[in-house]
Amino acid sequence: MKKAEVRVHKDFQVGEVDKRIYGSFIEHLGRAVYTGIYEPGHETADEDGFRQDVMDLVKEIDVPVIRYPGGNFVSGFDWEDSVGPVADRPRRLDLAWGVTETNEIGVHEFDKWLKKVNSEMMMAVNLGTRGVNEARQFLEYCNHPGGSKFADMRIKNGAKDPFGYKLWCLGNEMDGPWQIGHKTATEYGRLALETAKVMKLTDPGVELVVSGSSNSHMPTFGAWEAEVLDHTYDHVDYLSLHTYYGNPDNDTASFLANSLDMDEFIKTVIATCDFVGGKKKSKKKMMLSFDEWNVWFHSNNAPFERWSSAPPQLEDIYNVEDALVVGTLLITLLKHADRVKIANLAQLVNVIAPIMTVKGGKAWKQTIFYPYMFTSRFGRGTALHTMVKSPKYDSKSYTDVPYVDTIVIDNGGLNGDALTIFAVNRGEEAVLTSYEMFGYDNLKVVDHQVLTNPDMKKTNSPEQEPVTPAKGSGVEIDGVSVTVPLPARSWQMIRLANVTRA
Ligand code: AHR
Repeated sequence: MKKAEVRVHKDFQVGEVDKRIYGSFIEHLGRAVYTGIYEPGHETADEDGFRQDVMDLVKEIDVPVIRYPGGNFVSGFDWEDSVGPVADRPRRLDLAWGVTETNEIGVHEFDKWLKKVNSEMMMAVNLGTRGVNEARQFLEYCNHPGGSKFADMRIKNGAKDPFGYKLWCLGNEMDGPWQIGHKTATEYGRLALETAKVMKLTDPGVELVVSGSSNSHMPTFGAWEAEVLDHTYDHVDYLSLHTYYGNPDNDTASFLANSLDMDEFIKTVIATCDFVGGKKKSKKKMMLSFDEWNVWFHSNNAPFERWSSAPPQLEDIYNVEDALVVGTLLITLLKHADRVKIANLAQLVNVIAPIMTVKGGKAWKQTIFYPYMFTSRFGRGTALHTMVKSPKYDSKSYTDVPYVDTIVIDNGGLNGDALTIFAVNRGEEAVLTSYEMFGYDNLKVVDHQVLTNPDMKKTNSPEQEPVTPAKGSGVEIDGVSVTVPLPARSWQMIRLANVTRA
């Protein structure tokens, strides 16, 4: 059997894991909102029309923050349409996705749903068709206590207490020619700066995310970040990154290696942030918000009825290899826990999502649900520098791809756990992997989950869910050594506690 060696030391830490890296995203797109989270008349619908079966699955993942209302949708969004009496709200053409938005669910309703699923808002302002004035008015509506035009409008609409949203995105993917109101880096940099200034004047407590590149293959990648940050560095708190991966050519060896691309992307953006910070002689370190990431390609070009309301769109059905990729992307985010403070799996329900619903029927879990749920729940604490010596392979798109991608998290007693290992074996052969956990002793396994399948293309469906994790076995512990058999093409989680734990 192939072998890999991993070393961690209690004192060699990447940084504290900000729980917001387990965030997600709900856009007014497809069936994310309508027949996703909201379906009055559904047998599990609560008094507000929200599906309880979906809320239960969102709570099972434990999603700390949810980005809303877009995405591309936000670049044509007039927030005033989505507040006030539902009967008076206009139906509007959503040019981003070619459909009609009914505005039945708006800011107040979504706020209520967020509270029910124990999550927080990551709100976005429209910097596509709108600008500084609308952004400050919307922020005043959401966060100002009262005694002013827009705060009083909120109170009149039923919310006496301010929503108090802390986290705000300054537009979405403004570098992309597909974006409504697409801008050059100079145009966006200036607008983002002036918007950031008025937003912090309105509420100094807000944290702002400025839009970086839509992915690292954009022609303007790098130059965009440098120029946008040149304008905004002192006025924003995070720079965003987005990326999606796919396997359209059925090249699984390359597909499974895509976290190498994500890792390079993050490193380049950190370098660019630090270049601008250095140039400005700033003491501030710009943090990153990876606020859209996932696998997305299965549903490309799927037809839908133009100008209909909430047709199925972007309904990727995920298989086993997609789940392994999601596992490696989560490990990659954790490896950069010192700089990536927010990340959002895009998206959460029905639209490129871990949770799916049948209209009038059941909610079900996609394959990617599992690495996301387990990493969110048990990947909290401090990320340790995880040094890996692994056998490697070459693929069509990547060379020197390590079979084993892994990270060890020091949980500091959270859930009773000392350490949690997350690992993916990308290779076609099993790898016996020995972890030396320096600074730790008396460990025992409290949970071991393995997700794999001889058929990498196997999917779940509303009828059956054959792809679920199974209990793992074969972990051997000897002092600081923990030896884990990693089956070919598998994702694993091993939770370790101290032996003294009851
Ligand atoms: O998540 C789907 C879309 O992908 C978002 O609306 C957009 O920001 C990105 O291009």
